[in-house]
Amino acid sequence: MSRGLRSIAMLLGAAALLAGCERPPVDTVQRGFRGTGMELVYNPRTEIKVAEANQAPPISDPAGTEGPKAKDIYKNVPVLGHLSVAEFTRNMAAITEWVAPKEGCAYCHDLEKMGEDTKYTKVVARRMIQMTQHINADWKPHIAQTGVTCYTCHRGQAVPRQVWFKAPPQDLKSDFIGDRIGQNAPMQMVGLSSLTYDPYSLYLSGDQTIGVGGPTALPNGHVASIVHTEQTYGLMMHMSDSLGVNCTYCHNTRNFKNWESSPPQRTVAWHGIRMARDLNNDYLEPLTKSFPANRLGPLGDVAKVNCATCHQGVYKPLYGAPMAKGYPELLVNTAATGSPAKASAALPPPMAEATRSVLYFGVGSSALESEQAKGLTLLIATLVSRPAAKASISGYHSATGELASNQQLANDRALKVRDSIVAAGIVPARVVLDKPLQAEANLSGEDPAARRVEVFVK
Ligand code: HEC
Ligand code: HEC
Ligand code: HEC
Ligand code: HEC
Repeated sequence: MSRGLRSIAMLLGAAALLAGCERPPVDTVQRGFRGTGMELVYNPRTEIKVAEANQAPPISDPAGTEGPKAKDIYKNVPVLGHLSVAEFTRNMAAITEWVAPKEGCAYCHDLEKMGEDTKYTKVVARRMIQMTQHINADWKPHIAQTGVTCYTCHRGQAVPRQVWFKAPPQDLKSDFIGDRIGQNAPMQMVGLSSLTYDPYSLYLSGDQTIGVGGPTALPNGHVASIVHTEQTYGLMMHMSDSLGVNCTYCHNTRNFKNWESSPPQRTVAWHGIRMARDLNNDYLEPLTKSFPANRLGPLGDVAKVNCATCHQGVYKPLYGAPMAKGYPELLVNTAATGSPAKASAALPPPMAEATRSVLYFGVGSSALESEQAKGLTLLIATLVSRPAAKASISGYHSATGELASNQQLANDRALKVRDSIVAAGIVPARVVLDKPLQAEANLSGEDPAARRVEVFVK
């Protein structure tokens, strides 16, 4: 049995145990604490089909690193020229297998003139190699040690099975109902629901704020409308669908907004959203002119990636088979273009409520970024309007590293936040530092949700 099938068999075995004597068609797996209803529902029969479609191909034998470099022999190899000729040839064989197994080398090359960029597919493939390197080198908070290869998206096809184009606007001409803002046009992209369609343009290339409610009870500083709410839910439907999971995979549904009670997968997903934006805006959009018209969408835009492009119905693409490890040339960002800074600077948005704020910090850092500091605005307004109230500040750190220096770091973070509140005109006596009450129970490793400072108004 292959790796993916075995892991799915184990999952189903666990499901059978947990669900007691319940028989298919459905099984449930408990994911959260008992009583929270955080369960996943599986249908074993469809699950087997998904499992069969998500097997990773074997990794070919490694090639020798000795001998002349590709750049010494070939004339047009700016991206992979540093490899030995043997490694280079192995890479060409692999990408052919992953992207164009039927068409072969001729899909990208004019076989008479291998070194020339006569075919658009070769131009696109060169940028794709760089994109794959960028994902593996700079988006570790999402892809971890698993990484991606061309196969993660392409699965033996030139055009990945799951791509998206901008949806044409709804026709309003003879419509008495007026602007339906994309509602009631059941589309696969919103899980066939009546939600407004095309959350992709808004959230996976645009950066509209994802959220459903304002931070205050009365309409004062609200960030979200009913339209925003529907759009957010549309995106959530897509994310659940793409991963083959339901909402409890990333949320404790008692409170969708709250980060602390969310499973760590939500943080991974948060980075996934930023990664999809980055790939679409920095890699695919700029390639638009390279593609022939028949590859573009109804509005002339290039095919773009969403969660399903890699995941294809599974919580980790190819069930987490660490295929990329077998192709070291795809792990290092040789171009160092793209935006590694964006990836490492990505912190969850601050939580900004009238009586509570949660601000996040970078790895090993006590610097309060200006985006994070904005999370204090409402809370400071409350302190101004309630002169008897005090602010209580607690600093936290992540689980990795040495305890003593981590505690110092947590303390420094709390001090930075105190300084920021004092700088806004609140007298220091009203701002107290409190030792955090609980240890980190559900956060492991370098979880960004752990590197935080919490502020309460008391
Ligand atoms: C999916 C597209 C694609 C396929 C399929 C493909 N190649 Fe390539 N090939 C490229 C790209 C892109 C480069 C340039 C790499 C770089 O910029 O470092 C290249 C460069 C080369 C070169 C260097 C030519 C020169 O003189 O500059 C050779 C040789 C080569 N490929 C052989 C092959 C062979 C053999 C196959 C089939 C087994 C193959 N390629 C299949 C995309 C492809
Ligand atoms: C994150 C997903 C993803 C990864 C990883 C990826 N690609 Fe792509 N690729 C796409 C998308 C999306 C398109 C645009 C689809 C289209 O061609 O219309 C595309 C298009 C292409 C095309 C043009 C195909 C055509 O017929 O129009 C080639 C060639 C290609 N990719 C090669 C590669 C190679 C080689 C790799 C690995 C080094 C790779 N891709 C990795 C998503 C990906
Ligand atoms: C794969 C993980 C994942 C799944 C599955 C998921 N969500 Fe989310 N959800 C997130 C992330 C991440 C955010 C925060 C996005 C951001 O701020 O960029 C979020 C935000 C939200 C919000 C906005 C909360 C706020 O701040 O106002 C709501 C509501 C929500 N999700 C509902 C749902 C529902 C309903 C489902 C099931 C249909 C669902 N989610 C499935 C990861 C997930
Ligand atoms: C470029 C390919 C790619 C894209 C696009 C992508 N992911 Fe992932 N995702 C991965 C890989 C690879 C992993 C496995 C990482 C690991 O082994 O921990 C992963 C893991 C995850 C996990 C953790 C699963 C677990 O059980 O630990 C979540 C949640 C997730 N992705 C959500 C998303 C969401 C939501 C989107 C769209 C916004 C998305 N991903 C887009 C490649 C991708």
